[in-house]
Parts: sequence; C-alpha cells; structure tokens
Amino acid sequence: RIKEFKNMVDHLTDVPKKVINNEQIITSSSPYRQKYHVESESGTLGDPNGFSYFNGKYQLFYQWSPLAYSQKPHYTQHGWKHLVSDDLIHWQDLGAAIESDTRYDRYGTYSGSAISEDDKLLMFYTGNTWINTDTQNNWVRIPYQITAYMDKNNIVHRNNDPIIEGTVSGYTAHFRDPKVWKKDGEYYAILGVQRTNLTGTALIIHSKDFKDWNLLGELNTKYDSLGYMWECPDYFELDNNGVLVFCPQGLKSEGNKYQNIYQTCYLMGDKVSLPDTEFNAENLKELDHGFDLYASQTMFSPDGRRILISWMGLPETSYPTDKFHYSGCMTIPKELKIINNKLYQVPIRELDTCRVNEQIIKQTLTDNVYQKKLSQTANEYDFSIDFKTSNAFIIDLFADEDDQRRFRIILNKKKNEIVIDRSTTGKDISVAYGTTRTLDYSIDNEINIRIYTDTSSVELFVNGGEEVFTSRVFPKKSQSYLFLNSVGGTTAVTGNIYEMSK
Ligand code: FRU
Repeated sequence: RIKEFKNMVDHLTDVPKKVINNEQIITSSSPYRQKYHVESESGTLGDPNGFSYFNGKYQLFYQWSPLAYSQKPHYTQHGWKHLVSDDLIHWQDLGAAIESDTRYDRYGTYSGSAISEDDKLLMFYTGNTWINTDTQNNWVRIPYQITAYMDKNNIVHRNNDPIIEGTVSGYTAHFRDPKVWKKDGEYYAILGVQRTNLTGTALIIHSKDFKDWNLLGELNTKYDSLGYMWECPDYFELDNNGVLVFCPQGLKSEGNKYQNIYQTCYLMGDKVSLPDTEFNAENLKELDHGFDLYASQTMFSPDGRRILISWMGLPETSYPTDKFHYSGCMTIPKELKIINNKLYQVPIRELDTCRVNEQIIKQTLTDNVYQKKLSQTANEYDFSIDFKTSNAFIIDLFADEDDQRRFRIILNKKKNEIVIDRSTTGKDISVAYGTTRTLDYSIDNEINIRIYTDTSSVELFVNGGEEVFTSRVFPKKSQSYLFLNSVGGTTAVTGNIYEMSK
C-alpha cells in the first residue's frame, strides 16, 4: 500500500483531463445515483469536514478521492472537496479546497473542521504522512495538526508551522480529526487519539489566538477503555448539556448494539468544565441504528440551530457503487434538539421545500388481509405516518410488485422492538455483519414514523427523531413499490407521502 503512494500525483491539475472525465462517465452511468443527497461525481466521498457558515453561505467539505478507482492507484489519496449552499440542500461544487500536496499532508489531507471569523474561515485538520525509517522498508505514520484559513475567494492558506508534529508522549500516531469551537473568546479543539496502551480517547487543546496552542489534557470521562481509537470527535453544547459525538473503533457487539464494523456514538452530560476537561456523562449511546453512518460533524447555524451531517457509508466496506467507480454520500442534514433529556435528530425544515405531489394515506389495515400497495412513479420520497398497531406493523420499501424483494421495517408491539431488514433487497452489502438491525423500543402508543428515501438510501426517523436508522439500499429498477402490512392484528395509519423533487 505504501509503495503505491510513492509516486503520488500532487495536484488534480496534473492528472490528464481524459482520466478525470473517464471516471466521471463511469460514475454517471450508475443506476444508484442519488437525487437529493450529496455524492462525489467520481471516486470516494468520506467524512464531512469543515461544516460551517461563512461568507453568507453554508460550507461543507468532505474527504475526497475523485480518482480512487482509476487505473493508476497512485492518484488515490486526495483532499477536501468544497461545496457551498444557501439552504443545506442545493449545493454548488467548488472543486478541491485542499489537496494533499505539502510535506505535512502528502499522504492524506485528513479530517478536520472550521469556524468562521470575520472575513476568514479558520480551519484545522490533520495532515497524514508516512516515512520510511530504515532500509527494511518499514514505514511509520507521522500525523501533523495543521491550521489554515480560507478567504472570501475560497482560497485556502495553510500555516507553515504545524500545531503538533507527530504525536504527544503517551499516545500513538493515531492522532487526528481536530474539531474546533470557540468559547468566551478563546479557541478549543478536540482530537481523536490512541493511547500507547492501545485504547482510544480524546484530547483537548486550547488557544487564545488560533496560533499558540497548549494541551489541556484528555477529555476526562468514565469511559477509560472504550475501543482502540476514537475517530472524529465533535463536542458541542446544546441547551445546558455537553454532547460528544464520536466514533470509538473496536467496540465488541453487545446484544443488539454495535453491529456495524464501526459505529458513531454519543455521550451527553454536563458541559465539559474547562480548563480541567472533566466531562461528567454516562449512558453511551449509538447515534444511529442503521447499517451505514459514520463520522458525523455538527455546525451552529446563523439562526441558532445545531445541525448534524454524516457520511452515509462505512470505512473498509464495499458497496455496489464501487463498480461505477464511486462510493459514499452525505446524509440529509438534521437539527439536533434535546427533548426530555434525550437527543433528537430532526430532518431540517429546508427539506420540506423539495416536497411535491402529496398523497394522503388513511387506512385501517386488518390482519394479513389487506396490504396497502402504493406505487410510486419514483423511489425518492418523504413519507410520514402516525400509526397504532395491536401487534406488528410492517413497511416494505423498495419492493417489487410481488413484495419478494424489499427493504423491510418491522414495528413490533408485542416484542417492543423495531427491526430493519435488508436481507432481500437484491444486492448484498456487508453480510458478514448481518442483514438486520434491531432496536428495543416501546410501541405502546401511537407513534410517528418518517422516512426519507432516495434512489439508493433510507433514512428512518422514529417519533420525531428520537431514534434514527440510516442505510444504503441498492434496488433493481422494478423495485419501486411500497407495502404497508399489519400482522397478527389491526393497524390504523394516517399520514402522507410526497415525492422529493430537487
Ligand atoms: C474516518 C477517518 C478519519 C480520518 C479520515 C481519513 O473515516 O479515518 O479518522 O481523518 O477518515 O480519510
């Protein structure tokens, strides 16, 4: 792997246009291209980075390797893609913001964050490098924590002196993903790191001027040995709480929990006390219960919302889109709220502007007798229903006419659980990690289900965002039916379905 990177091309402009065009043509022939989710026009899309509001627009960057699937593997590791938007839905593509072209980030402009300040967008990211330390071809990873700023012309200026070179005593070279915030006029950043005893944690650093930084210490939680590495930590305060969203790698599955190769989790508690970095929080929870969500990042919008966006995809996972030389997309943005001491994820209201052609649903489904079959002209919709079931209610999305192939959602009152099942969707994804996900959830009262589908994804919100399930799904052309079915009793449903236009 290391050898491949040795002849890395430094700039996209050095790559023959023909190569770039060819990749984009292959990608555009994919039947799975999304309608209203951000995707790369070729290659890989990974973690959201630098999610912020600056220069009158929302700014979104992401981990981007546009030529990851090209013939020449040495084009692989790239930089930050840059998009801007007025509404968080319609994005303008501004191309590469940062490329991996300095001695500090030559092997990857890794994840990081941004906050706006006057006429600058202050940025902080990890540069990844490898060096060959001996004649035995032993390569050693050396990370650099780099600050930069973007001007109003979208030009990124990197500072020549990294904030941290390599690692800090007590930690390995897995040291990355600074997320920066400002409090009482001073700057703080949280980084995901690995201790030399191979457990994961996070560090907080501090600066008065965004130039000189000092290490405050480890985020002091009661989770002392949670996985082997924490990636992409994001700390923010919401109402009177401190919330840490992060990706602890190496969690063993525990009952229904931690079934994916890697998970995104959160801790919510008191605000982190600074400068002593005490974080009093318990009840580690999974942020999402679906198959495909990782590396979430939040921003504070000018109208006072805490908005979260995530990579809909997982590291080290193959997807059917690989064949079309791309992978990954962003989730829809969600507004975070705390209701009754729980973190809710609510689809942002801007999504409502995409809704067209409302269809009203009002039905009492009887036991296995009646299936309400809804035939969409397209698979991209916003579907919201309230239901009350006496036993179990099933929603089959992306179904073919006979309901043989489908993505199934089971809302089981008797078992008090919600199950999603993609075993019969047509294309297998990561089956080694199982084809169902289950969440214990009480379905006693009337509850609301809201589903956003796009050409190749499902985002399911339970009870106004109390629980979320995010998954990719890769249907055949014939799979554009939606079945509602009541099993072992009756289910009363009312709601509506809109097509999503863009
Ligand atoms: C998470 C991650 C980050 C890293 C980046 C590299 O998906 O591994 O920790 O900065 O991706 O692309």
